[in-house]
Amino acid sequence: MKNRPIGFFDSCLGGLTCIPHLVQALPKERIIYFGDTARTPYGSKALSTIRTFSYEIADFLIHNDVKMLVIACNTITSTCLFDLKEKYPHIPIIGIIDPASKKVAQSFDSSHRIGIIGTKVTINHKTYIDSILSYNETLNLYDKACPIFVPLIEEAIIDNKIMDLSVKYYLDDFILSNHIDTLVLGCTHYPLIRKNIEHLYPDLKIIDPSEEIIVSIHEALYSRNLLSDAPHFENTFFASDLSENFINMIDAIFGNTNVKVAFKNFDLR
Ligand code: DGL
Repeated sequence: MKNRPIGFFDSCLGGLTCIPHLVQALPKERIIYFGDTARTPYGSKALSTIRTFSYEIADFLIHNDVKMLVIACNTITSTCLFDLKEKYPHIPIIGIIDPASKKVAQSFDSSHRIGIIGTKVTINHKTYIDSILSYNETLNLYDKACPIFVPLIEEAIIDNKIMDLSVKYYLDDFILSNHIDTLVLGCTHYPLIRKNIEHLYPDLKIIDPSEEIIVSIHEALYSRNLLSDAPHFENTFFASDLSENFINMIDAIFGNTNVKVAFKNFDLR
């Protein structure tokens, strides 16, 4: 049981940003990742659509014998975490928002001004604000949807002026007028533009939920005696459409590590 894989999923490649943190912290864990490259982005879709897609992916991963589901997507977590937990009560399910909310609530006080950026769906659902305030109701929170970031990142338009202009378009006024000193990257794609943001706003403290989620994964596995003790397994990355972008992104993220990658194309429909 304990040596079964952990199932990670995202609407596309953003959730891959969690994987190097997991590999570093828990190198014995085996990963099955599913990116819904054929149907991304989810961040501007209707709730019923996101829920249907999420159930399909969860069914697929559970069919692949995972011991835990990790929702490496803020959009799915903000809309479907409780539905997924209700539908699959027999398996631990970790969403990406709660671990980051706890970290923010524990690390800051009312002297800070904290911004949260994400997709339209995540921001409209106010999940981060509700979650952070449930741990610390004194915090000053501001949020902003940045819908153009995901399509640009998916196209690997990152290290150039178009991305920098888009960052400035969404964040200049948001940061200035709200006196933001801390920014939560509330979309798993955004760590891929962390350098752009840090370059433009060097004084900003950045919180990356794809790092924070690893603590919760460890706790959930440890408390259920599910930590793997196997030597090493090959990780598998499935995509509903095996695009060049997805493969390039896996290369970019894992290029310098010894993570083994096996690609598989899978059509959910
Ligand atoms: N990576 C997803 C998230 O964390 C969003 C991408 C999308 O819009 O599909 O919210």
